[in-house]
Amino acid sequence: MTDAGSPAPLSFYDEIGGHDTFVRLVDAFYRGVAGDDVLKPMYPEDDLRPAAERLTLFLEQYWGGPGTYSERRGHPRLRMRHAAFHVNPDARDRWLQHMRAAVDELDLPPLHEATLWDYLQRAAFAMVNTFEPTGIGPTRPAEATTLLAHPETTKES
Ligand code: HEM
Repeated sequence: MTDAGSPAPLSFYDEIGGHDTFVRLVDAFYRGVAGDDVLKPMYPEDDLRPAAERLTLFLEQYWGGPGTYSERRGHPRLRMRHAAFHVNPDARDRWLQHMRAAVDELDLPPLHEATLWDYLQRAAFAMVNTFEPTGIGPTRPAEATTLLAHPETTKES
């Protein structure tokens, strides 16, 4: 039972402004990706909007917002979903550079900004799956597309 006098604690999602904030963050991030010679070619679709929507839904769910990501995509399993992409330290640093610019645009209070940025950095470092330079080793866009659309990894048909 909750005490009728004490309101439910706000989630981090609510504290930083809910859906609008996450949309602004991811839109700014993908503006950076769109102009990135290494990251842009990694995306299986030419149109970055569906990828932007997936990242928005994931981040919203992670921070206590609606659970739409898992309703549509199933369990995140992010390292597995990135396995087919060439995520080396250069790709990670580029990803973080665009994300840093996007976080700056939000102009959050320092503690909220530090919390968000700390998570994004740890997540990006965890996503690295190769130390081979870009252009060396297999790039597998076809396999990546299959993996992303595989019925066992997603509830979308
Ligand atoms: C470190 C560098 C990273 C690179 C180069 C990278 C690249 C990619 C690419 C190429 C895709 C496929 C695009 C698509 O959705 O169609 C993707 C998907 C995705 N990425 Fe990343 N990513 C990185 C880090 C991260 C991090 C740190 C997160 C989370 C905080 C993340 C979250 C996602 C999500 C949620 C998807 C969609 C997964 C799905 O439902 O299929 N990525 N990423």
